[in-house]
Amino acid sequence: MPAIESLSHLLSMKKLSNERIMHLFATAKHMEETDRLPSYQGRFAANLFLEPSTRTKSSFHIAERRLGMDVLHLDDAASSVTKGESLYDTLKTLESIGVDLAVVRQSETGILQECTKGLNLSIVNAGDGCGEHPTQSLLDLYTIHEHFKSFKGLEVTIAGDLKHSRVARSNAHALKQLGANVTFVTKPEWQDPTLTDQYITMDEAVDRCDALMLLRIQHERHEQGASVLSYLDQFGLTKEREARMGEHSIILHPAPVNRGVEIDSDLVESSKSRIFTQMKNGVTVRMAVIDALMKGEL
Ligand code: CP
Repeated sequence: MPAIESLSHLLSMKKLSNERIMHLFATAKHMEETDRLPSYQGRFAANLFLEPSTRTKSSFHIAERRLGMDVLHLDDAASSVTKGESLYDTLKTLESIGVDLAVVRQSETGILQECTKGLNLSIVNAGDGCGEHPTQSLLDLYTIHEHFKSFKGLEVTIAGDLKHSRVARSNAHALKQLGANVTFVTKPEWQDPTLTDQYITMDEAVDRCDALMLLRIQHERHEQGASVLSYLDQFGLTKEREARMGEHSIILHPAPVNRGVEIDSDLVESSKSRIFTQMKNGVTVRMAVIDALMKGEL
């Protein structure tokens, strides 16, 4: 069993250098191809999901099991958070009983940074409110890199509910750091003051972008319900727009997809779509992240 060299966390894409990102991609690729995976048998992972998840929760479970870890699952209903226990005390409890890695999804933006102080276990942010979702960003970037082999000069448009999306912030930061040109498409009221790049229309986006990253409308984070009426026509990817995209271009979406809202339902499994490839890549990318965390590399 490889030794834990020092404790590390993955809370934000802002901490990862380009070299570290590319090293994670190389590890993920290797893990996809090898039948000699590292073994973390005897190590415990706890998946603490206080908000719903299908992809992140199940792909972390598979990644942890492939690396030989024992896995505990805690959700909202099954944890003492419902009795008022704080997130810090919950994580301190997991540390006390011998958990090495905690994968945490919860609704409060930025709270995990506070929790890491005084804790002796590795923490992964699996989505914090409207904050960040670094492993989603890594699997998105891995999928883009798999197709284009480089980020330099790539035209990437991020389209949708920017204000409430944790994926948008993680991806915009990392893509720019890696050398891509990032543009945004959204309704004026869903613009985000922290995302200051060029805002364009969806018609402009399909004519110029290499990768189009669509975002889910985060209905659960809208105080006054979000209208989807005419959203597809105004801001979404229709069949007519998809036909104008370059031959080489690809479509991404972190999912779950609101079919017929962000994207025409028929395009979800079209030749340009990498939506299910993203999910497949999520397992090996998360294995690479766990391996790096267990080695104290992040
Ligand atoms: N993309 C994503 O985070 O999906 P889940 O909410 O299903 O985990």
